[in-house]
Amino acid sequence: MIVYLNGQFLPIEQARISPEDRGFLFADAIYEVVRFYRGRPFHLEEHLSRMREGLAALQIPVDAGFYPDVASRLLASNDLAARDAIVYAQVSRGAAPRSHGFPPAGTQPTVFAFARESESPPAGTGGRAVLLPDERWGRCDIKTVMLLPNVLAFQKAKEEGAAEAILVRDGIAWEGTKANLFLVSRGAVRTAPNGPRILPGVTRGAAIAAARRLGLTVEEKAFTVEEMLAADEVFLASTTLWTYPIVEVDGKKIGGGGPGPIAEKIRQALWEEFTK
Ligand code: PDD
Repeated sequence: MIVYLNGQFLPIEQARISPEDRGFLFADAIYEVVRFYRGRPFHLEEHLSRMREGLAALQIPVDAGFYPDVASRLLASNDLAARDAIVYAQVSRGAAPRSHGFPPAGTQPTVFAFARESESPPAGTGGRAVLLPDERWGRCDIKTVMLLPNVLAFQKAKEEGAAEAILVRDGIAWEGTKANLFLVSRGAVRTAPNGPRILPGVTRGAAIAAARRLGLTVEEKAFTVEEMLAADEVFLASTTLWTYPIVEVDGKKIGGGGPGPIAEKIRQALWEEFTK
């Protein structure tokens, strides 16, 4: 596997990051995951602008413009240029003696990227979800690598045999640990509005646009756990999942307890857009 690290393409075994890297010490880093089909990215501009916003919010002086060329070279050198693949990129504030304040100006940020074949779970049967408290910080809109609450919640879901955890705060079902959350009620699609409690997902935006093209009503309005449990359909949306039906939450069946038609239509629309 050839990866990218600070200007070089090299075998992953030779890629070395300092133990003083602030990504390691403080989770002082952002990341991005973009999906490519036969070398063509899905909504690259939205990913890049989210990356720029994250870098600006954290005041890390890196130009996100490195991404497209690095991604193309990673796909080519890992034999993924003709496949369905993801490219992960992470930028940290760089390595410096541990101190909470920012390191001296001129400290080189660390830029790391790798490509891998996509592995989406099959959407055919859908999955179960569990409800867990949302213990994340107040800026879930910034795509930082500070994912420990997400990791712990996902692991708990996995141990309970569920496909995902739905994160709940103030009675609102905000999103999954690695995907945005939608419901369908009486033919209308609903998802929480962008803001500090959720990641502004690129797939979320594409799913909203696809739903509108399909003639569906879309409402960007947060929903409670009770509203979600009473919905006809619940589904997740992310780069790695497209849309993925949630057919049961905490043992309670959603709608008829099987994948719903609207999530499937949106999934088809996204897939066509991706592969056209
Ligand atoms: N996760 N919400 C959270 C908390 C996420 O981590 C993600 C993406 C999303 C969906 O965003 P997008 O549609 O832009 O992929 C929503 C990535 C894929 C990950 O952590 O692997």
